[in-house]
This record gives sequence, C-alpha cells and structure tokens, in this order.
Amino acid sequence: MSALEYRADLYDVIHGRRQHDIPWYVELARHVGGRVLELGAGTGRTALPVARAGIAIDALDVAEEMRAQLRKALEGETEEVRGRVRVLSGDMTRFSLPDSYGLIQIPFRSFLHNTTQDQQRACLERCHAHLAPGGLLALDVFLPSEEYMAAFEGDYEGLFRMDDPYPLPTGGFLLLSEWNAYDRAAQNVRAVHRYELLAENGRITESLYQILDLAWLYPDDLERLLVAAGFAEITFYSDFTSQPVGPETRDVAVTARRV
Ligand SMILES: C[S@@+](CC[C@H](N)C(=O)[O-])C[C@H]1O[C@@H](n2cnc3c(N)ncnc32)[C@H](O)[C@@H]1O
Repeated sequence: MSALEYRADLYDVIHGRRQHDIPWYVELARHVGGRVLELGAGTGRTALPVARAGIAIDALDVAEEMRAQLRKALEGETEEVRGRVRVLSGDMTRFSLPDSYGLIQIPFRSFLHNTTQDQQRACLERCHAHLAPGGLLALDVFLPSEEYMAAFEGDYEGLFRMDDPYPLPTGGFLLLSEWNAYDRAAQNVRAVHRYELLAENGRITESLYQILDLAWLYPDDLERLLVAAGFAEITFYSDFTSQPVGPETRDVAVTARRV
C-alpha cells in the first residue's frame, strides 16, 4: 500500500500558489461543456475555478480530510457555485458513478498516486467507462528531471532541502523541506516532507512529517497506457501551452479521447 498523507488544512497554504494550470483546465471544461468529473479533487484548488466559471463538476477524492476542506471552502462560495459542485468519496482506481461525462480531469499529478501499473491501468479503465463516446480525459504529470533527482542522491541522500517560507493565514510561517528517495527501476519516488509551523515570533509551534509515494511517467509511458486503455487523439502540452514537450518542460499535460 502506498503512503498517502496530506495535511489537508495546510494544502492550500502550500499549493494555493499554483495557478498556471487553472486556465488550461477551465478552458477545456468550457470547450467540452456539460458536467465535469475531477479525480483527486482535494480541497478544490482546480474544481472551484471550474465551478466559478459556470460549469458543474463532481469532485471525487479518497481522503475525507481533503473532502472536508473542500466542503468548508464551498461555504464561502455563492449559492450558484455551491450548487454546481458535488463532493464525492471514492478511489480513482475503483469508482463507479451513475453518470457519464464529456470531460474527466486529473489535475496536479494526482494520477501519479497510482504507483503501480495495475493501479494506473485500473484508473484509466474507470475513466474510459465513465466517459461518453468522444469524451476527453485530461491530466498532468511532472517531467522527471535527472538533475533534480541527483540533488537527493549519493552524498546528498537524506538531506532535507528547504523551500521558501509560506505565510500562514493565521500569522507566522510554514517552512517546508523535503528529501526524496527514488526507485529508478520501479519509477517510484518516496517524498518525505518536513513541516515546521512558526509563530510570528519565530518559535516553532508544530513540526511534522508527511510521506507521499508517487510514480513518475515519461510521455511515452503515458501514451502507451492511454492507447492500451482505448484512448486516441493523444495530445501533449508543455507547461499548459501548445508548445511541444521538451527537456525544459516541467508539467506535461495530456488530453486523450475516448473512442
Ligand atoms: C496533489 S492533490 C491534487 C488536488 C487537486 N486536484 C489540485 O489540483 O490541487 C492529490 C489528491 O489526490 C487524492 N488521491 C490520492 N490517491 C487517490 C485515489 N486513489 N483516489 C482518489 N483520490 C486520490 C489525494 O487525497 C489528494 O487530495
């Protein structure tokens, strides 16, 4: 069983800054029309902008803490936006819903929580089964960087590397540092994140670890998986633009059509 630990109340503090993917997902949803399904919707970072753009969305997540955070965020939205979002409990490798969709989206690398090929295939099979004929699947992954991996290996193994401080909404800061252990044969990474919460006076008030197991996939891996699952018209986007994916790409986004 893969480790999956998100500290739901700190998720938006860290990842709320990530904005560059949102227009791509919102535009796709607008273009396709109809109710969208998001897998691994978490706190609604990507689902809420879709709903705010006037599009109904089913937000499915396996973690109750994340769903609770999304329900809390919805309380601050207008009645119209609230009415467009259904928060669903489910595992992206096993879900079965009564509806079919024109668009299923899996933003921000959530597909990589499927650390085995069996899980990856099961997830794509479920997506295929829930898409209307001609429907689109859209997801993104990171492009593995040998340079980044090397920063955590050899002499640097076990060394925590620190991010910039994140201001906390309640005052003070979150310091996040991480070290990653790469299994290059299995294409899996165990990311160990250390969180230190600091009060405004600089005193550490809480310190904790979070462990995430993720797969990494190259564009060719994704293409093979998608074709095997019955998808066609597979299109890659570099960093959510129409540029081709290349060595400088960080986020590999892909769309695939159910035939
Ligand atoms: C990186 S977050 C992405 C959240 C949101 N989509 C975003 O873009 O910010 C990954 C989410 O996937 C969820 N998740 C991980 N494995 C899952 C699974 N097997 N089925 C459903 N959700 C899963 C986690 O609970 C978490 O909320």
